[in-house]
Amino acid sequence: MHSPSICIVCCDRASKTQAEALARQTGLPLLSEKNDDFLLQVCFDQDRVSLLDSTLNTAIEVDFVAGTLAHRQQYGGGRGQAIAKAVGLKRGSTPGVLDITAGLGRDAYVLAGLGCRLTLVERSAVLHALIQDGIRRGREHAASAVVLQNFIKLVNADSISYMESLERNHRPDVIYIDPMYPVRKKSARVKKDMQILQRLLSPSPNPEQLLITALAYANERVVVKRPRHASPLGNIKPNTDIRSRKTRYDVYLTRPRPDSSSK
Ligand SMILES: C[S@@+](CC[C@H](N)C(=O)[O-])C[C@H]1O[C@@H](n2cnc3c(N)ncnc32)[C@H](O)[C@@H]1O
Repeated sequence: MHSPSICIVCCDRASKTQAEALARQTGLPLLSEKNDDFLLQVCFDQDRVSLLDSTLNTAIEVDFVAGTLAHRQQYGGGRGQAIAKAVGLKRGSTPGVLDITAGLGRDAYVLAGLGCRLTLVERSAVLHALIQDGIRRGREHAASAVVLQNFIKLVNADSISYMESLERNHRPDVIYIDPMYPVRKKSARVKKDMQILQRLLSPSPNPEQLLITALAYANERVVVKRPRHASPLGNIKPNTDIRSRKTRYDVYLTRPRPDSSSK
């Protein structure tokens, strides 16, 4: 869905400055109470930021303390899981990762829990505010605070410009990309939080440009998360892939650089 009606709601005095700053940055209307005429509402309420979908009557927020992320961090299979193999985690090797599609910070948190040091880049100011709030709350709890120490930087920017601005000695070992999956026809099967993200964000006209740029800036590899049976991003053939039940991680080695015949 394109250009959904969206507003910011601040019911929480303590968050007034932050809500006003987001309203100025995005140009979205700022209200003092919820209004279901808006399809999406960014709510600053009860010391947290959430994104409420009025028609689904569901709110999403970034929660590193409880729920699935905390569970996965505790019981998630460690360095044996597919994402860990894909970024090249081995005994004695823990690469630094630039996540250029931060979203709700979930994959980044899994990687941080495995010891990777991460920079997260997200171009949506709303999602950036959600992650920032999740990090703030996560730092107040011992278990998540330890993992969040590995979040070195959170940037609100377009990733292509961000990568292009990186000085040679600041280039990451690994660049991680999780582009928005194409909208499935049977949308009832798409999880509610993904439906909300799809409503918030306009689809990227050229997600393959993220990969093309990343290939020029990663010191060791680029990893692209795909649905298990989807074609590779931009039909650019990876050097290898790692599969889990529903997901495939396409791995592009940049050292030595893939030659043109591998594309
Ligand atoms: C599928 S979500 C990523 C979900 C994330 N991996 C997670 O675990 O929560 C894709 C995200 O990439 C962001 N994105 C897409 N293109 C971008 C770009 N050029 N620069 C920065 N962020 C971008 C979108 O705004 C969206 O939040």
